[in-house]
Amino acid sequence: MSFQIPQRPRRLRQSAANRGLSRETLISADHLIYPLFLQEGSGVKEAIETLPGQFRYSPDTVIEQCHHIQALGITTVNLFGSTPLKTELAQEAANPDGPVARAIREIKRECPTLSIQTDLALDPYTEHGHDGIILKGVVDNDATVAALQKMALCHAEAGADWVAPSDMMDGRVGAIRHFLDMHGHIGVSILSYTAKYASCFYGPFRGALDAAPLGVLPDKTTYQMDPANRREAMREARLDLAEGADALMVKPASHYLDVLLEIRRSFDLPVAAYQVSGEYAMIHAAAERGWIDLEKAMVESLTCIRRAGADMILTYFAPEMARWLQQDGTS
Ligand code: PBG
Repeated sequence: MSFQIPQRPRRLRQSAANRGLSRETLISADHLIYPLFLQEGSGVKEAIETLPGQFRYSPDTVIEQCHHIQALGITTVNLFGSTPLKTELAQEAANPDGPVARAIREIKRECPTLSIQTDLALDPYTEHGHDGIILKGVVDNDATVAALQKMALCHAEAGADWVAPSDMMDGRVGAIRHFLDMHGHIGVSILSYTAKYASCFYGPFRGALDAAPLGVLPDKTTYQMDPANRREAMREARLDLAEGADALMVKPASHYLDVLLEIRRSFDLPVAAYQVSGEYAMIHAAAERGWIDLEKAMVESLTCIRRAGADMILTYFAPEMARWLQQDGTS
């Protein structure tokens, strides 16, 4: 006996072919950006305990990894520096012989078609682990922006294709754009961390860079956003657009999909999402215990971030996901 049910959505789910025809969200390696960690020295490839499968490389060893991910179809990396040379004014951030600038030059020589983004923030370089210069007990906005301009120029001169300010200072996108243009780098794009929240999910990353905030200001709540706020993200997005950003980022990703969707719907620029270290580490930790399937969680989490509106996704899963795409096709 059969009911009179005029709409049967299950018809479109009854075969792999139908599911494929009606799948709304696809991911390809083109959408993935792989974050890579650099440190001083040569011949170094050091496992990062808090980020299973991720390493800190010296500028020479990173090349092998770049060849590997290019073979998987990944087009873009995002470089993070780390250094034991931490100072009050974070001078190392703009050192043309520092590990990031050196790695940019090496990668451009050895893998010229790989697009390079660099993280712009002072936290690996300040002695207190903040993303800004502290003057009179507060993170000083304008002194920090001036330091970020120099850092951006240093990376642009080394050959970076994008700079990605992750600091959340006011006015930094415009100031960096102006400074780069003044020095002839009109082709260097800006991926702005538009809505970057003061999140606990950065914990494993801070271990990787040895850059957790210390001392009188124990957290980043005076510059990163309150996780409770969405309207404020729209304000930040309008400012970044007006200041000349080329793409807008939301970070973290999975717990902030509403913010991502709203920015996607309100702006025409490409939108990026950062599946951060804590999101990656949680999936790994649960999988290690046998509580979830690592590969399925990877594919589902990245698919959902795309569905919410991300054009590009920064993820530590990038090589694994690209390999899965090559072998298994679609989600
Ligand atoms: C630093 C920076 C952080 C991340 C990217 N850039 C940490 C922070 O803001 O404290 C987090 C990345 C991750 O957790 O994967 N400006």
